[in-house]
Parts: sequence; C-alpha cells; structure tokens
Amino acid sequence: MIEIDGVHKSFGALRVLRGVSLKVAPGEVAVVLGPSGSGKSTLLRTINHLEKVDAGTVAVDGELVGYRRSGDVLHELPEREILRQRTKIGFVFQNFNLFPHLTVRENVAEAPLSAQRRPKAEVAETVNRLLLRVGLSDKADAYPGTLSGGQRQRVAIARALALDPKVVLFDEPTSALDPELVGEVLDVMRDLAKSGTTMVVVTHEIGFAREAADTVVFLDEGLVVEQGPPDQVIDHPQHERTRAFISRVL
Ligand SMILES: Nc1ncnc2c1ncn2[C@@H]1O[C@H](COP(=O)(O)OP(=O)(O)OP(=O)(O)O)[C@@H](O)[C@H]1O
Ligand SMILES: [Mg+2]
Repeated sequence: MIEIDGVHKSFGALRVLRGVSLKVAPGEVAVVLGPSGSGKSTLLRTINHLEKVDAGTVAVDGELVGYRRSGDVLHELPEREILRQRTKIGFVFQNFNLFPHLTVRENVAEAPLSAQRRPKAEVAETVNRLLLRVGLSDKADAYPGTLSGGQRQRVAIARALALDPKVVLFDEPTSALDPELVGEVLDVMRDLAKSGTTMVVVTHEIGFAREAADTVVFLDEGLVVEQGPPDQVIDHPQHERTRAFISRVL
C-alpha cells in the first residue's frame, strides 16, 4: 500500500533523510520510533508530498506520489493532481489542526463536501458513523474550543477518515495530551488498526507499538537503523543505538 524507496531529503546543508526505504502492506501498521530530529515527521510528510523529496520515490496504492514517470524522468504533477492524491492519505497531527469556527460535525464534513463534492445527505451519514466510531456522537454540535484535548484528537481522527483514505498517517498524535487523555486516543487507534486500516504512526508510546504494530522502524539521523516486528526491534534490538533509545523511552 505504501512503498518508500531510497528517499533523500535535505534542508540546505542538513541531510534529514539519507536513503530511507519502507514498505507497508495493505492493512498493516508501521510504527516509526526515533530521537527528536531524526527525520520522522519529514518522512511522514514526504508520503503525501507535503515535503518534496530530493531523490527516491514514494508510491501509495500503486501510484507514484507527486510525480508522473515518463521514461527515466519524473515530472512533478500539477497541484490539482497532488490534491487528488492527498484525498487517499489521511493525516493526524500532534496539534489537531481543527477549524475553530466549525462544529465537530462541520469539521468532519468539510473535506468530503468541498474536496469530493459528495451529496450532503450521504456526508451527514458518514459523519454520524465516524463520530460514533470515535465515541463522540454526543459532541457533534460542539465547537473544538469546548472539547478536551483527547476529544479534539478523536475529532481529528474522524476527519482524517472522512475521505475514506487508503492510508492514515499519525504524527505523535498523543504527545500534546495530558497523560490521562492518552488512553482514549490510543483506544481509537487500536480499533482502527484491528479493523484493517493501513497506518504509519510516529509515536513514543511503546505499549501501543508492541500491541498494534506489524512493523517497528527505528529511524536515527535520517537512516532506518533497524526494522522488524515489535518483539524483535523493541525487545531484542540488534543495534546499540536502538537499544539505547528504547531503554530511554520505556
Ligand atoms: N522546513 C524545514 N526547514 C529546515 N529544516 C527543517 C525543516 N523541517 C525539518 N527540519 C529539520 O530537519 C530535522 C528533522 O526534523 P523532523 O521534524 O523530521 O524530526 P523529527 O524526528 O520529527 O523530530 P521530533 O521528534 O522532534 O518531532 C530537524 O533538524 C529539523 O530542524
Ligand atoms: Mg516530528
């Protein structure tokens, strides 16, 4: 479902991704671990072309993201094509990014109405179903400012699911939350993982990685140091850098 192949990305002289490859099969969950500055967010952002890569390719659902190939040359796609591709990729950020002037229901309905121009009645049904799924049916008409952080993040997850994406990317979805609110968000994510959603999750929640991940990827200084099933990477890491990192976050 996701195929990242030899991706390089620099900001000026800073080499942030130095040849990262990663495959995520349909229905799989990949958890990306790594120290601050190792390139985790940048890697996620390359998956939906929020960040242009300098070399390498990203494909989602069998389609190159951001480019079309002609012979050996890649041509960047026009903006409207990139926007179409992004509808296949849900993104959940650390800081929710909800529209403060829209209700919960309107936040979730926004993309299907404006980006996909789906009929109102059908979107209303989708929104109800998604709010039920994240346990927020009773907050449909509330404004984000009146919600707890955990509730806001669950709205953000419902919004990311509203376009029925092929994959959902999470960038530290619980790290801005008070500790007692982390569990309710992880519960929703576990539920998504179980129901076969293809996910890439950047998180420091090792418990979640152990339970929900098919693959754990340890990124350090822009390189994949180690990847494999959780019991291998978390419990029996092969590399000293992985070991040191895991022991710090456990
Ligand atoms: N737009 C940008 N311009 C310049 N430098 C950037 C930009 N985005 C990221 N960087 C730098 O790239 C490096 C990797 O950043 P990135 O956000 O991917 O790290 P991260 O692993 O997500 O870290 P954290 O755990 O702190 O979120 C950092 O040194 C960061 O300062
Ligand atoms: Mg980050």
